[in-house]
Amino acid sequence: MTGSVSSEDGAWWRSAVVYQVYPRSFADSDGDGIGDLDGITGRLDHLAELGVDVLWLSPVYPSPQADNGYDISDYQDIDPLFGDLAAFDRLLAAVHGRGMRLVMDLVVNHTSDRHPWFQESRDPASPKRSWYWWRPPRGGAGAGGGAPNNWGSFFSGPAWTYDEAGGAYYLHLFSSRQPDLNWEEPAMRHAVYAMMRWWLERGVDGFRMDVVNLISKDPALPDGPLRGDGPQGDGSPSYVCGPRVHDHLQEMHREVFAHHPGRLLTVGEMPGVTVEQARLFTDPARAEVDMVFQFEHVSLDHGPGGKFDPRPLRLTDLKASLARWQEGLAATGWNSLYWSNHDQPRIVSRFGDDGPLHRVRSATMLATVLHLHRGTPFVYQGEELGMANAPFASIGDFRDIESLNHHAQALAAGEDPERVLRGLRAMGRDNARTPMQWDASPGAGFTTGIPWIPVNPDHTTVNAAAARSDPHSVYHHYRRLIALRHSEPAVVHGDFTLLLPQDERVYAFTRSHRGTTLLVLGNFTGGSVRLDLPPQWWQAGRILGNVPGTDPAEPGSATVLAPWEARVLRRTEGATAR
Ligand code: NOJ
Repeated sequence: MTGSVSSEDGAWWRSAVVYQVYPRSFADSDGDGIGDLDGITGRLDHLAELGVDVLWLSPVYPSPQADNGYDISDYQDIDPLFGDLAAFDRLLAAVHGRGMRLVMDLVVNHTSDRHPWFQESRDPASPKRSWYWWRPPRGGAGAGGGAPNNWGSFFSGPAWTYDEAGGAYYLHLFSSRQPDLNWEEPAMRHAVYAMMRWWLERGVDGFRMDVVNLISKDPALPDGPLRGDGPQGDGSPSYVCGPRVHDHLQEMHREVFAHHPGRLLTVGEMPGVTVEQARLFTDPARAEVDMVFQFEHVSLDHGPGGKFDPRPLRLTDLKASLARWQEGLAATGWNSLYWSNHDQPRIVSRFGDDGPLHRVRSATMLATVLHLHRGTPFVYQGEELGMANAPFASIGDFRDIESLNHHAQALAAGEDPERVLRGLRAMGRDNARTPMQWDASPGAGFTTGIPWIPVNPDHTTVNAAAARSDPHSVYHHYRRLIALRHSEPAVVHGDFTLLLPQDERVYAFTRSHRGTTLLVLGNFTGGSVRLDLPPQWWQAGRILGNVPGTDPAEPGSATVLAPWEARVLRRTEGATAR
């Protein structure tokens, strides 16, 4: 059954936990070194036993794979790398057969440059010309006239590429192989809605919507303020939550989601979204999306040079940020909760300690803190095993277009190659994309062939088989957390109150619901921390923790949190609970 704590407004996803599968790296059934749909179907028991309610599948559509499937060339088929529609239907039936749901990735800010829509649009006379952002060179004819504006792309370099065929530039916020669709064009929008209805009628249960807050651009496409010391400008004021984004999502809701009331989960990936905007996007009365992925908490360790110039996280920043989102969406709207996905480094390496001494403890502490917030938690494949970042030796070990482009650009700009590599090792997306570690065998149980990206050598000890047989593993801790969400209404519905906002070591908060209060404590350090618990917590029962046998507190005395310890206490004494 999906999400067993009932939801007052019938929104089943409030008590659900989502598990993200990155198909390329999850399970390879045919030995070609790339994961596939039959591989996923063969591993569904892992998800069912973990207790998750929803599987989110990263893109499996036909694609030249310039950005591992986030460059789609046909929205209504399956890439032969991953299988075919029959394999998809088998997976969907198997997911439903286990009482879970399946959410597809919807990538409609852009297509692949191989998509027939884009190919047609290259002809200036084509009716599809207006489906993309074609613009003449700024200074007159030819590529020498220069790009129409100064925007930079998220994947380094300019956001415009010149096409000889039509003598014009096209806009791409990501790579040149990912041209942006023009959402001003109604025919394009309605083609997208028809495609979405087709998947829902096939049985899928919703969409994770890629960078969907970027779909509406200011049609004037003005220059942006210069970023850093490079030639490019920041176009985000013209497209982050752009002028018509709410109109588009409301139209999508009317045209697509409204046909399946109460059945779907929709989550919009929204870089740069603010709490205030998120409240609008997720207010049920406005009928747009159920929840958004915001990026604030995974940007706190970005340094002055951006993502690849990381700096240590300050716990007080993390608490302040997440608490603001909890409060901002408390009365209206809903949060998603995540540490990890296919674009983020592994959380145990990032905010925890992936060394042998503290890996399990810090991974379980991080999980506990996240899952006890109010919102829908997302688990990224391998996170439930405490998988860590990969030991990439040289640039030759990386596969991701973002990392490769950044490396080339940084070196061309004269940056120190070792420093650039350090940034990639810490923050590169390939950390999340090394194969899922099923067992200790040479291919980690992921493949019998040569994996498209090497397995992390730590798979000999960090793997699902080992984790399943160890009751203190990260995996079993995730099971307990997911079960707790399903059985404890305070986890789903409880009000959130941050405690100790100025403390750099301990993350502490309460969740209160109808006379039950939970106290959540997480030690974000590798040392012991002494805490003075308020008296009402001295006798409270511990319902979850990651240090076997710790007592809540000795009556009348302080309690000590062990390194990376997490503890959840529960009391049911009514109004004085906080
Ligand atoms: C966000 C996706 O999560 C990421 O993997 C992708 O590269 C970009 N959007 C472009 O689609």
